[in-house]
Amino acid sequence: MARHSEIMDIFKGKRENFNFCNDDDLMALKMVLIKCCDISNEVRPMEISEPWLDCLLEEYFNQSDKEKEEGLPVAAFMDRDKVTKPTAQIGFIKFVLLPMFEQVALLFPQLHDVMVIPLRNARDHWERLKEQDDEIRAKQQT
Ligand SMILES: *[C@@H]1O[C@H](CO)[C@@H](O)[C@H](O)[C@H]1NC(C)=O
Repeated sequence: MARHSEIMDIFKGKRENFNFCNDDDLMALKMVLIKCCDISNEVRPMEISEPWLDCLLEEYFNQSDKEKEEGLPVAAFMDRDKVTKPTAQIGFIKFVLLPMFEQVALLFPQLHDVMVIPLRNARDHWERLKEQDDEIRAKQQT
């Protein structure tokens, strides 16, 4: 993830005139495909992705709890006081996953229906849940 923007920029630069016989183009594609595999959880059906999301957040929250105990700096995305399941996913889907899978689907249009559409559905699902959370919170404050 530390090299996400760099890898995306290289791929985007090659995607429009992609040449499957060019080694540099193929290397750029392979790097993006590895990223796609690495962070594809939200592309999968909710009944598969959600238990993995629960594991991920448990690991983040455990880590940030320990960091707080030890007076260390805590990354906001790992902080149980700052993120919820919906808020953790909405930004990640909108700003990391969708732009990446949309780029790959421009090169492989057959991926649009099986990867981009499920991601948009996942984003909509988490946005609906966030709205519900916000309504509950607003009621608790009045
Ligand atoms: C989180 O911490 C709890 C309590 O120490 C532990 O049982 C659990 O296995 C930890 N989970 C992860 C994903 O590290």
